Amino acid sequence: MPIRARAHLHKRRRAPLAALSAIALLWGSQPAIAQQADPLAPTGAWSANVDGAALTPPMGWNSWNAFFTDLDEEKVLASAQVIVDTGLAAKGYRYINLDEGWWQHRREDGRMLANTDRFPSTRTPDGATSFRPFTDRLHGMGLKAGLYSDLGRNTCAQAYMPDQTNLPRGTMTEREVGLYGHIDQDIGQFFDEWGFDYIKIDGCGLRAYGPESERVMSGQYRALDPILNLETVALSDIPAVKGLFGEVKTALMRYNPDNDFVLSLCIWGSAHVRAWAKDVGNVSRTSDDITPHWGRMLTNFDTAVTRELYAHPGSWNDPDMLFIGKGDFDADHLTEARSHFTLWAFLNAPLLIGSDLRDTPQPLMDIFGNSALIALNQDAGGHQAVLAFDTDDLQILVKTLADGDKAVAILNRSSAPVEATLTAAHMKLREDAAIATTDLWSGEGASFTGEMKVTVAPRETRAWRVRGSRALADGMYLSELPGQVNPAVDGVTVPEVDPTIHRAANFGTRGSGARPFYTGWGGARADSTPYGRVLQVAGHHFASGIGVLANSRLEVRNNGHRRFTASVGVDDSAQDADNEVTFALYGDGRLLARSEPLSRGMPAQELAADIAGVSLLELVARSGDAVTGQLSVTWGDAALVQR
Ligand code: GLA
Repeated sequence: MPIRARAHLHKRRRAPLAALSAIALLWGSQPAIAQQADPLAPTGAWSANVDGAALTPPMGWNSWNAFFTDLDEEKVLASAQVIVDTGLAAKGYRYINLDEGWWQHRREDGRMLANTDRFPSTRTPDGATSFRPFTDRLHGMGLKAGLYSDLGRNTCAQAYMPDQTNLPRGTMTEREVGLYGHIDQDIGQFFDEWGFDYIKIDGCGLRAYGPESERVMSGQYRALDPILNLETVALSDIPAVKGLFGEVKTALMRYNPDNDFVLSLCIWGSAHVRAWAKDVGNVSRTSDDITPHWGRMLTNFDTAVTRELYAHPGSWNDPDMLFIGKGDFDADHLTEARSHFTLWAFLNAPLLIGSDLRDTPQPLMDIFGNSALIALNQDAGGHQAVLAFDTDDLQILVKTLADGDKAVAILNRSSAPVEATLTAAHMKLREDAAIATTDLWSGEGASFTGEMKVTVAPRETRAWRVRGSRALADGMYLSELPGQVNPAVDGVTVPEVDPTIHRAANFGTRGSGARPFYTGWGGARADSTPYGRVLQVAGHHFASGIGVLANSRLEVRNNGHRRFTASVGVDDSAQDADNEVTFALYGDGRLLARSEPLSRGMPAQELAADIAGVSLLELVARSGDAVTGQLSVTWGDAALVQR
């Protein structure tokens, strides 16, 4: 759905952002009172979401990219059958998700009715309709079933689809098929009664139906004051949006006592969701819709690739569904299609196939079936890849695996071949010991010492699994373990747009171009300051570490290590040269170590403590309230070690 088509939003000032950050801190499962009193106080508890069935990223198929609203039961079940017959189901593709286009309308008593013409198995003698036979069928095939709704009263297709042939029918209120005002009832009907296992919740109903919108003015739809604005974060009512998702989560917990549900947030990176979705949902869209264009795929990739610390087992960044099968990712563009799949695997993105599997060419089916890449995506460690080298043309991504191996991807974003040099340092491996590599596409094995020269074709992504000797022999840098680091409070008080995200021109050149509007700039980063600079304290460069703003609290899961070590200080890139920052380390809620107050220009100070038997560490960087300008702090070489 083109962004441009969605630009007509009702503009009205919402709650001031200063107030929002305070409310933002209340989110999550920490005791609310402690949070209110002091958001940086240790809680001893991991606060990112672990509810639902998403300890690894969901895999499956979704109807949207293949069919848009023109979907029906036959098309869906045929793709499901192919998933089973080709062995993709056995490789992990389990969720068969209906996107928009399944509904008839909402009955006067609030009950949702399925479209029985499109989904004949939903017909019941009393006219109440039921998806139970459909979900039973999928469950009988060893699969899971997913459904789609909207957080507002109305939907994206009602607002934006030019083809109106398969939209809800009936009176204005009958056509109000979204969750708004019906959250508990709908979630009960979808999960408890109909047996669905997954729900994707869109946000168009919260953004496109302002009183001055054409569709409302025409009398077709009831007005709902927009609380979401994709382009301008200040026009979103973040607490209100969070509150509604919180209600959905409560209903999901209530109707799924077995915890077998997936909650997918689809508000396209708006409302600063890249910072807080990890606390409520299982997957969350970081950008507007992907289209089958190389440039647009890069946009979506960019919105997730710097959010490595905001994804954990239970809650993943979602740069949108795979568009392999069309346009720049069809069977005539296997290089691009393989790149797209490789990058989604490295991002720990949901792997949701978006093509019509009834006629998907075999070379594309082989891409979906790449077991080595699926294994990376589904690796139990849950560590999203981290950027080890970053330019506009070429990027190197490194992902730590649960068994200690690494995976490396080199992405050539440009249209000319690049001679790349992959170094042991990129992977935090020793440069004097052999590094064994297995190519993740050809399966070929090789080995090198120090560095390896690679030619990367235009739009190609080369990828390997590697094993070598670790530079840090007896432990792990925190930046190698992003799935274990949760920026519970990341110090961002005013959401800012991220200027680094590719702005694609694939929607045409009318207007003035694509402006940066995805917030998240200033969030916590692995091996980088919050603003993409190298980590450096008093002239000393740290190749490893966590960069975050002051007045932050990071939660770190300790998996059996005995000692924490770090060199802490205010980063040289900080704008604020006056304020002092005190760094503190807590173990299961108890203070273990604290630094002197440090300001910019002072050398990094060692901060270390025994952590044997501790399961949760908290890393707090506290400064006064009167911070002026960006105050980036560096947890240099922060590591969990055995010593
Ligand atoms: C939005 C979502 C898409 C799809 C459509 C359905 O555009 O971002 O993924 O669900 O709505 O109308």
